[in-house]
Amino acid sequence: MTDYFKVARDDELVEGELMAIEVDGEPICLAKVAGCVYAFTDTCTHISGPLNEGELDGEVLTCPWHGAQFNITTGKVLRGPARRDIATYPVKVEDNAVFVSLPDE
Ligand code: FES
Repeated sequence: MTDYFKVARDDELVEGELMAIEVDGEPICLAKVAGCVYAFTDTCTHISGPLNEGELDGEVLTCPWHGAQFNITTGKVLRGPARRDIATYPVKVEDNAVFVSLPDE
């Protein structure tokens, strides 16, 4: 069974802003876009830039180090220098609580 970790309150997340959290020791970034909460790795696939310090424009996140871009809803890399997609994680929101699931090892 997949475990979900309670990570934040929904009302703490501001539309279009990034929040760094840690889930079971993994650096994860949360963002709310058009009312939906997304969770993805906080580590750029280029050389590990901190994605929570990047710029979010709609669904498009720009890494603060060398400008790679990713779609945070799918994890797809949109612009180099990164070549690999970022990991995204399932999210559910219940009673103002945000839960994130990590894949089994
Ligand atoms: S570390 Fe993200 S673009 Fe280089």
